[in-house]
Amino acid sequence: MTATFQPTVDRDRLSRALDAERARFRDEHPRSLALYERAKGSLLDGVPMNWMVEWASPFPLFVDEASGARFRCVDGHEYTDFCLGDTGAMAGHGPSATIAAVERQMRRGITHMLPTEDAIWAGEELGRRFGLPYWQFTITATDANRFSIRLARQATGRSKVVVHDHCYHGSVDETFATLDADGQVVPSEGSVGPPVPPSETTRVVPFNDVDALERALSDRDVAAVLVEPALTNVGIVLPEPGYHEALRDITRRTGTILIIDETHTICAGPGGMTGRDGLEPDMLVIGKTIGGGIPAGTYGMSEEVADRIRATMPERTDVGGVGGTLAGYALSLAAIRATLGEVLTAEAFERMIPLAEAWEAGVNSVISSRRMPWHVTRLGARAEYHFVATPPRDGAEQAAHADALLEKYLHLAAMNRRVLMTPFHNMALMSPVTTAADVDRHTEAFAESVDALLA
Ligand SMILES: Cc1ncc(COP(=O)(O)O)c(C=O)c1O
Repeated sequence: MTATFQPTVDRDRLSRALDAERARFRDEHPRSLALYERAKGSLLDGVPMNWMVEWASPFPLFVDEASGARFRCVDGHEYTDFCLGDTGAMAGHGPSATIAAVERQMRRGITHMLPTEDAIWAGEELGRRFGLPYWQFTITATDANRFSIRLARQATGRSKVVVHDHCYHGSVDETFATLDADGQVVPSEGSVGPPVPPSETTRVVPFNDVDALERALSDRDVAAVLVEPALTNVGIVLPEPGYHEALRDITRRTGTILIIDETHTICAGPGGMTGRDGLEPDMLVIGKTIGGGIPAGTYGMSEEVADRIRATMPERTDVGGVGGTLAGYALSLAAIRATLGEVLTAEAFERMIPLAEAWEAGVNSVISSRRMPWHVTRLGARAEYHFVATPPRDGAEQAAHADALLEKYLHLAAMNRRVLMTPFHNMALMSPVTTAADVDRHTEAFAESVDALLA
């Protein structure tokens, strides 16, 4: 049954509260506004990347400086940052170990298309965390996903890809596919210039739906299933007990390569959900966090996949659609070594996860004391609230409960109280330098913003 949207707050009050927050933001950010007006002359829509106009504020917040779990905008306001560059800065802004390694490497050669010893350290460490023996490096997680899909096609001689409904894996053409009300594969909402109808390349299955997965793979023409082990980009949707076992079993039985994308789910622990839950992917992708903010992505593979790739690779691959001039470049490998070795360590996760638990408890206390029909979901060091009382089991159900206006209001109200949430979600991420006081600051801002809707 398709879920339908049920508003959980009074719309008139919401729209009045949103207008008040917009006015406050304008009053308090004259410099950001002036920069935005100037930017319109040289940047498309006044921003360096188009989605930056989609934040909740009436115009973008221009940043002056970021450090640790905070940043200051050009108007001099200091914010607690729970967005952390949507995971790109999960290590905190400018971790000193990463900065020191990057500064050192900048003087020793930024890029030269030749390996450095840091690459070996990174491959060994990723193997230890995720259990796969061989690794390759890219600039972004998007690239790591694109190359993994290409290699899976090459290794299997099959063409199709399976993804979860409402997934996000970066700007990878094959993944901009969703199910319509009749269960047909159509372009995802907002998909820009799809090269071909996605039904030609992709099958889509709802998260947690074992039967749909079985049907999608039964023709044995699917090269790879590319999944996040928990959905995080339509809000967090956790796997039901047994789902990962079934996914592994069906992919093995049908000779399909299982690619797990841990780019966001690394929040579950130092080895992501793969390490925490003992998952056994054939290939694994991760980007964003691992370079501490310096562009870096990677994909790993099992011995068997490596053998199949080697056996089928053409002689010359440098122009074969897998790679990139800066892929695996020295600066990014130095950043990965420092970030994984000294910042996003197992010990750091032991501090980050309890902070997310405290954030979850704070939001829960506001929800229950105000009797809001909402709930909070947490995955390790990441937590998020949703405008429905019980956790949905797939992406479509989750999307049906999204309330764009309410989300906009709560994000903007948080910004005006100097707290930054991840845009397009109600998500908060803890860094190794986030504090209990930061968490309390969010709880207070959240309580105040909800109360304004009930007054
Ligand atoms: C799960 C997942 N994979 C891959 C990506 C792509 O990362 P990037 O935009 O850095 O290429 C994202 C980005 O949000 C993501 O959430």
